[in-house]
Order: sequence, then C-alpha cells, then structure tokens
Amino acid sequence: MSDLDVSAVKLLLIDDELPSLKLMEAILKQAGYEKITTTTDPRQAVPFYQEVKPDLIATDMRMPHMDGFEVLRQLTAVIPAEDYVPILVITGELDAPTKHRALAEGAKDFLNKPVDATEVVLRIKNQLVTRQLHRQLHMHNEHLEAQVRLRTKIVEQTQLDLLNRLALAAEYRHDATGGHAWRVGRMAMLLAEIKGLPADQVDMIKKTAPLHDIGKVGLRDSVILKDGPYVTADWEAMKQHTKIGSRLLSDSRAPLLMMAREIALTHHERWDGTGYHGIKDVQIPLAARIVALADAFDIMTHPCSYKPTMTLSEAKIEIHMQAGKQFDPDLSALFIQLIDREGEKLLAATGPLQLVA
Ligand SMILES: [Fe+2]
Repeated sequence: MSDLDVSAVKLLLIDDELPSLKLMEAILKQAGYEKITTTTDPRQAVPFYQEVKPDLIATDMRMPHMDGFEVLRQLTAVIPAEDYVPILVITGELDAPTKHRALAEGAKDFLNKPVDATEVVLRIKNQLVTRQLHRQLHMHNEHLEAQVRLRTKIVEQTQLDLLNRLALAAEYRHDATGGHAWRVGRMAMLLAEIKGLPADQVDMIKKTAPLHDIGKVGLRDSVILKDGPYVTADWEAMKQHTKIGSRLLSDSRAPLLMMAREIALTHHERWDGTGYHGIKDVQIPLAARIVALADAFDIMTHPCSYKPTMTLSEAKIEIHMQAGKQFDPDLSALFIQLIDREGEKLLAATGPLQLVA
C-alpha cells in the first residue's frame, strides 16, 4: 500500500533478550520506521500500550515474569476491538500447538527467531496495511451509521409533526377544555409507565393518545357546536366520532397508526360492556382502557360548559366509584396512585410532542 507512511507508524517491541530487541529495532529503523518503543519487561506491555498507543505490537513468547500468552491476554483485554492493533508473536517455538494457542489468544501473525530482516519488514507492513484498511472500513461504517441515525431522526420528527398536527386538528374542532389532547397524552403515558409497560409501548401510547378524538373532525357543526344539553340524537351522532376516527386511521401497517386507530375506536368503551360499542373488560385494548381513564379524568377536572369541575379528591372518588364499571379496576387503582403522586401537576398544561434528543 503506497500511502502507508512508515515514519509515522508507532511500534511497540517486547523481548526480554536485549540483543534480539536491538536487532529488531535496527531492522525496522533501516526500513524507515522512526517511532519505535522497546521494552525487555513484559509487565510493561500494557502501560506502554496505554502511553504510546502503538499501531502494531510485536512480542516474544518466552520471557520471565510473564509469557507471551499472558502478554496477549492482557493486551487484547485493553485494546478496543475497533482500534485493530495487530499483535505479532516473535518466537523460535513455532510448533503447531503454540501457534494455535497464540492465534486463539489474539495474535495476528508470527515472526521466526532468528529473525529474517526481509520477512520481518514484509510481515509487519502486511499487518499495518490490514490495520489501515480495517480503520478505513470502521470510519466508513461510522459515517454510514451517522447518516442512518440522522435519517431516522428526520423520519421520527416527521412522524411526530404529523401526529401533532392531526391532534391539533381535533382540538381546533372540539376542545371544551383547551390542551386536552396533550394532557391526555401525558397522563396516558404516566399511567402506562406505572402499569409497568415496556418503554416502547409507553412511548407509543404517549404519541397516539392525543389522537383519541381525531374523529370529531368529521362530526356535523350542529352536534359539535351545540350550546346546551344533548338529546339522544346528539349523543348518537357524537358516538360516530369513534368510527370516523377509526376510518381516518385505518389501513396502515405502521404500528403507531394501528395503535392510534385502536384507541380512536375504543376509548369510549366501558369495563362493564355498556360503552359505545359494547366491548367489555380485557376485550377492550389496554391502550384504550388507559386513554379512557386519562380522558375522563381530564374532563372531570377541567372546566367545560356541560358539567361542574371536580377537585382532585372528587375525581379520585369518582374513579374509585367507577372502577369495575366504567374503568378497568386495576388501572383505576394505579391511576389513583398516580393522582396521589403527581397531585396538581397532572392538571398542568402541556404542549405538542417533542422529539427526545
Ligand atoms: Fe372521545
């Protein structure tokens, strides 16, 4: 490889016999290597590696205090795999078991003793070229991974932007309390967390819960904007928002949209089966049972035209009373724990979803 500048290459040579060490050093200097660190003490292998950060290491096998196998073991333990620092073994004992063991311990090549100058120079250069290619490949891979990370982030940001805009559309259409969608998203996330769901499920619930009422964009003004008590026909019309929401979000294979659709369709189901579509208990998707609690609690505790605003204590009592009727009893108990833990913070305003850095 013509662009290998041997004068810049750092070598570490370990051999207890000073004459052998001097000979190797002389051969390598003759070949243009200038940065050569040598030691006759194998115990210095790791400290010298850490100080010099050599591009290649050559070590003898038979040495006092520590044999070459131990040197290999200690060095390979501290050299990061992605650094690819080749270690060559210099030995006169090149029987098959020694070779096999040295290779297994991490040696990349062998140098016979007594050393042959031409062979030493060629074998070392081969290993340095391999190291250079390895590092180029590693850098190329890192560059590709950085590009993939960047593109993934752009996709995630686009996804969040679209989800936020959809939730905002529903909020423009009908939000008696202001910021309802985002509060429901945050509370659903906290409830999913306290329920012990895996982090990816918690994240999906956080992102999809704000879309629960997206179907309201398809309701008539006479229903949405009605000022006064609803009659049966109004409630029947209002119920359609779950089906409209489901249609809006249907036919996607994206897990986020699949969950959003499930929530939009079933967030008004009741544990006892007396909800919009008559689904009951665990037949109601868990995400929808979570959102049902967050949705109802948020409406209870925020002012709106058709009902009085409850205090936290009143809302807790209501949830307790509805556990096993309107709400999943286990989730109700957890939600009451959440109210006790978070207090007034649960009622605080929150905004659209942000991408976590
Ligand atoms: Fe709804």
